[in-house]
Amino acid sequence: MSVSTVAADQTVCRDSSGALPVLGRDVTVPLVTGGEVTYAALDYAASAPALQRVWDDVAAYAPYYGSVHRGAGYLSQLSTDLFENARRTVEEFLDCRAGDQVVFTRSTTDSLNLLAAALPADCQVFVFETEHHASLLPWRDARVTYLNAPRTPGEAVDTLERALAARDPYGPALVCVTGASNVTGELWPVRELAAAAHAHGARIVLDAAQLAPHHPVSVQDLDVDWVAFSGHKLYAPFGSGVLAGRADWLREAEPYLAGGGASRRVTRREDGGVDVEWHDSAARHEAGSPNVIGAYSIASACKALTEEGFDRIVAREQHLIRTVRAGLAEVPEVRVLSLFGDDAPRVGVISFVVEGWNSSHFAAALSAEYGIGVRDGLFCAHPLVRTLLGSAPEAQGECGAPEAAPGEKSLNAIRVSFGAGTPDEHVERFVRAVRELVRDGARWQYRTEGGRCVPAV
Ligand SMILES: Cc1ncc(COP(=O)(O)O)c(C=O)c1O
Repeated sequence: MSVSTVAADQTVCRDSSGALPVLGRDVTVPLVTGGEVTYAALDYAASAPALQRVWDDVAAYAPYYGSVHRGAGYLSQLSTDLFENARRTVEEFLDCRAGDQVVFTRSTTDSLNLLAAALPADCQVFVFETEHHASLLPWRDARVTYLNAPRTPGEAVDTLERALAARDPYGPALVCVTGASNVTGELWPVRELAAAAHAHGARIVLDAAQLAPHHPVSVQDLDVDWVAFSGHKLYAPFGSGVLAGRADWLREAEPYLAGGGASRRVTRREDGGVDVEWHDSAARHEAGSPNVIGAYSIASACKALTEEGFDRIVAREQHLIRTVRAGLAEVPEVRVLSLFGDDAPRVGVISFVVEGWNSSHFAAALSAEYGIGVRDGLFCAHPLVRTLLGSAPEAQGECGAPEAAPGEKSLNAIRVSFGAGTPDEHVERFVRAVRELVRDGARWQYRTEGGRCVPAV
């Protein structure tokens, strides 16, 4: 048995609309109105289904599962090889620089918290208020400047330039920015923001949680210092994430977790204490037994997306985006949320509100009456969604609240999101469902349970 023979046979069978095969594509769910339909998973921005290929690779490896970096046995060595090879695959996927480190974490949130814990002393951090909470919150112990929401990509660059020009020019600084918004799907001008950061002696970390599943991400081309993303949004839902980028801050920082795996040598001192020599490599921040299946599944997804080709993935997704946006544009009661306007380049993440509807009610009806899974709420980006909705900071949407009276502002939004595994039929059904719900109303009664709208019976 060798590493190369562990991977499953790779024959890609797309559906007739070109979607990549994912788990759950044949799952049916009951409708309150009777009967069953194939589940339309349109919440990829939260978690995307596993690619069939990822699942097959994991299943092929599972019998050979063993401890990583610990055992002398054959399967331990095989697992260690797979884990380290996964690191190299991610390195290639992200087009890292020589000397960059790839650290396996639990998620994007974990990756950004790891970087926050590795900031040099007195580091200033700059982050737009529009970020997902995973990018907005980890820096609170640093000297953080929150930047106001820009209304164009150019304004984002100008805002950052101004803030950096006013900073203490001698200390270290970090900019944290998302590649694609988890609310609007809009792409941020990452390359230009990176150039601005570097011109002012700052570094930049890219939150690629929503970008990496939809677009190629090249560390070198974008010239970012670090990239963070999550496996479960990249069709590899096995509990792993990645922080990749410059080694120096990571090498100089205290280990994120203290324990075995991170330590090279531990000795008792004469005074009774303990001295530790930590690893300089990525292992420094990976203490404990690593999630080899998580890392392996991320590598499998990276390979599958690369082999499929992002040109094809992007082209297909743009077709789905056009279908959804054109469908929503035909319903005057629907308002799509946008920071940068209709022409902004975007990925398959679209949030909207429906006049006269509570968003939770609308999402519940999509699920119960059409078998469509979307998300409603503020999407862990409270400041951004409130800015887009124009609602007060203390406002909190609630199912059944009379927020949806015509002319009133919604307090929550609905988000539909999709990707490489989404068949055309799912987005077509979604567009039809929106049209019918707005025109005819819900066919069922709903009530509030635990803060969520659910079918009354
Ligand atoms: C833009 C963005 N960043 C970070 C995260 C956090 O990802 P995770 O929950 O996998 O840590 C998300 C999750 O939705 C996201 O959309």
